[in-house]
Amino acid sequence: MTAWSYKAPQELTNDQYTRWQNLLEERTGISFLQHKSILQKGLRQRMREVGADDYESYFEQVRTVPEGLIEWMQLVDRISVKETSFFREEYSFKSVQKYLLNRLERSSKKTGSTLDIWSVGCSTGEEAYSLAMLASETIDYLKSDLFLAIFATDISQSALSVAREGRYALSKINKLPKSFRTKYFTKANADEVEVISKLKQRICFAQGNVQLPEHSPQLSMDVIFCQNVFVYFRRERQHIVLDNLVENLKPGGLLMIGPGEVVGWHNARVKRTSDNSVQSYIKC
Ligand SMILES: C[S@@+](CC[C@H](N)C(=O)[O-])C[C@H]1O[C@@H](n2cnc3c(N)ncnc32)[C@H](O)[C@@H]1O
Repeated sequence: MTAWSYKAPQELTNDQYTRWQNLLEERTGISFLQHKSILQKGLRQRMREVGADDYESYFEQVRTVPEGLIEWMQLVDRISVKETSFFREEYSFKSVQKYLLNRLERSSKKTGSTLDIWSVGCSTGEEAYSLAMLASETIDYLKSDLFLAIFATDISQSALSVAREGRYALSKINKLPKSFRTKYFTKANADEVEVISKLKQRICFAQGNVQLPEHSPQLSMDVIFCQNVFVYFRRERQHIVLDNLVENLKPGGLLMIGPGEVVGWHNARVKRTSDNSVQSYIKC
């Protein structure tokens, strides 16, 4: 098909919208129930790129397994919201720092022990690198010999490629303390910086769908940090995913979610912390 013969698809009909919404929500958890225009925009953009001009045949193309899976991943990349930044939700990071100081001070410093942290829905990596900087500082401060291991997962392959590269516009780090900028980044060129390899080596970036327990790391975590992922998830689904995350926490481990992001969730195996500036839970 030539560029000039491409016919942009019309408005999604209600039936088409329902089918797309159901498929996306079932597979990713992301619900577009109140967001038809966002869904339609993402679909149109991707359909234009691949030259697809009707919603039905494109639907069949991405729905088939395994043939459609590669295009499916491309579409998910297009429609997922990947906005992020270093130390986003400042209070959550402050609270994690306080928690780590406390936990590490009390924990044994046995050689071979690890501090395991999971950044869920890590997008382009800023959150995972922020956690890595914060935990490294705490380990150094306490002169602990714990080994830091960060797992960072996301459903979007394109976001993960950026994360693994660890290269960012200079403007993205200008609000970080100078000591962090000089210690953890090197200049890549006039406009970009790169995370130092010593920090990169502490992080394993992997593709994972938070809805699927089998995509969780095989280890229990000291901290699970999951912020701004549930924004488009329906409440019942949020609760199921959170219950699964609790299964991945060590006893006494911390689950940090975005402030006010989830309401009405209770799980007998965790207790809400007393810090009201954040939404966090400790495993009993
Ligand atoms: C708005 S970003 C938030 C990034 C980071 N957590 C933060 O707070 O800055 C949401 C991320 O969640 C990811 N995401 C959405 N649904 C997901 C799912 N089912 N499994 C894993 N990641 C998902 C998106 O790809 C996106 O990168």
